[in-house]
Amino acid sequence: MAQKFKSSEDLKCNVQIFWKPEISLDKTIPLTPYIYMDFHAKYMTISDLQARAKKRLPHFTWEFLHSGTGDDGSVDRNRSALDRVGFYPSILHGEVAPNLRTEFLGQSYDLPFGVAPVGHSGLFWPGAEAILAQSALTAGVPYSLSTVATMTPEEVGSLTGNRGWFQLYPPRDEEIRRDLLARAKGSGFETLILTVDVPVASRRERQVRGGLTQPPRVTPRIFWQCLRTPSWSLRRAQAGMPHMKTLDKYSGDFESRDPTAHIGYLLRTAPGWDYLHWLRDHWQGPLIVKGVLNPKDAPKLEAAGVDALWVSNHGGRQFAGAPGTADALAQIRKASSLPLIYDGAIEGGLDIIRAYALGADFVMMGRAWHYALTALGPEGPKHLTEILQRDLVSNLGQLGAQHPKDLRGKHLFF
Ligand SMILES: Cc1cc2nc3c(=O)[nH]c(=O)nc-3n(C[C@H](O)[C@H](O)[C@H](O)COP(=O)(O)O)c2cc1C
Repeated sequence: MAQKFKSSEDLKCNVQIFWKPEISLDKTIPLTPYIYMDFHAKYMTISDLQARAKKRLPHFTWEFLHSGTGDDGSVDRNRSALDRVGFYPSILHGEVAPNLRTEFLGQSYDLPFGVAPVGHSGLFWPGAEAILAQSALTAGVPYSLSTVATMTPEEVGSLTGNRGWFQLYPPRDEEIRRDLLARAKGSGFETLILTVDVPVASRRERQVRGGLTQPPRVTPRIFWQCLRTPSWSLRRAQAGMPHMKTLDKYSGDFESRDPTAHIGYLLRTAPGWDYLHWLRDHWQGPLIVKGVLNPKDAPKLEAAGVDALWVSNHGGRQFAGAPGTADALAQIRKASSLPLIYDGAIEGGLDIIRAYALGADFVMMGRAWHYALTALGPEGPKHLTEILQRDLVSNLGQLGAQHPKDLRGKHLFF
């Protein structure tokens, strides 16, 4: 679809000039130039968006978004586990009209994928959480807000159509925990995600090498990187430095301390089973546990009253020794009948189909949305949605299926 010209920077894109006739009152027909960009000609894939995002972000910010941890072993395994999944094309199946509508946890979504929680989203583009929540609502897909987002549940909840997903990094203090759940619920988040794969901070060596300091500081190196990405830096200067706004309310006596240590205190990132049971008792609505990789954990989570498991290795950011998520998904599918969410290294419609074929009931993406937003601004998420939609339809056509879920266990080769 053609997009309207937005800024001088976009001139670098594939710009097409059309001459649009305008009928004026005196019946002459002047020709006015209209400039349109065909994003689909220039950015056909997520990797195209990724390449442009990389150019537009200062190096430290790019490393924050793109890196895993350690030697990026589990980032690589996410990709290779998906690449191993192939399909025998279907023949002579007649015409099949794709239908991407997807039922999940009592909701009906227009498409089989959504937006995973990403902390500090606003670092990549000011107001990222609001833009992504609105784009998700328009596309009819779920949006997840992180506890460590740069916008609050109160600011974002209504933009999700009051059916958002709120991701919880578990507060240590019970009063704060209750308050955060009440804020999420009261702001229109109906699904709670408990992330359990951050028992300790990971080292994220690439981020440190890229110049990120804890607490964040503008060093001469960071300043130099910012000079080389003026559009990002100007936007940043206008919007101010992003921070974990949801937690402001609980800053109290800690304001003067190192903010990282403060967050570490506030959010007890290694909850136990007792914590999960407490959450189940105090959250009326779907409860998802995110960061499950071991099939042996599945029955116990099911017994704890969890509604769905989110099979994820946090995009490879927590533990370089973790399995590729697609491998874990296939094993967990055998061990559990609970609804399963897949995430990790999704680069197109074929990957979404692979995840469903291995047993997923829904697919979420983290980085891809932020590549799209950084590359193309607020139009980016819509463009990404269209890319995935087209890609799904094209690949489903090869397999004679209406929806990726119809392919569970079918046509596969490894
Ligand atoms: C920059 C960044 C920040 C993230 N922040 C969070 C977070 O706050 N909470 C969370 O549960 N997961 C977080 N994740 C993990 C994502 O929710 C998701 O599991 C991961 O991005 C999926 O892999 P993908 O990026 O390859 O799609 C983050 C991921 C990235 C890339």
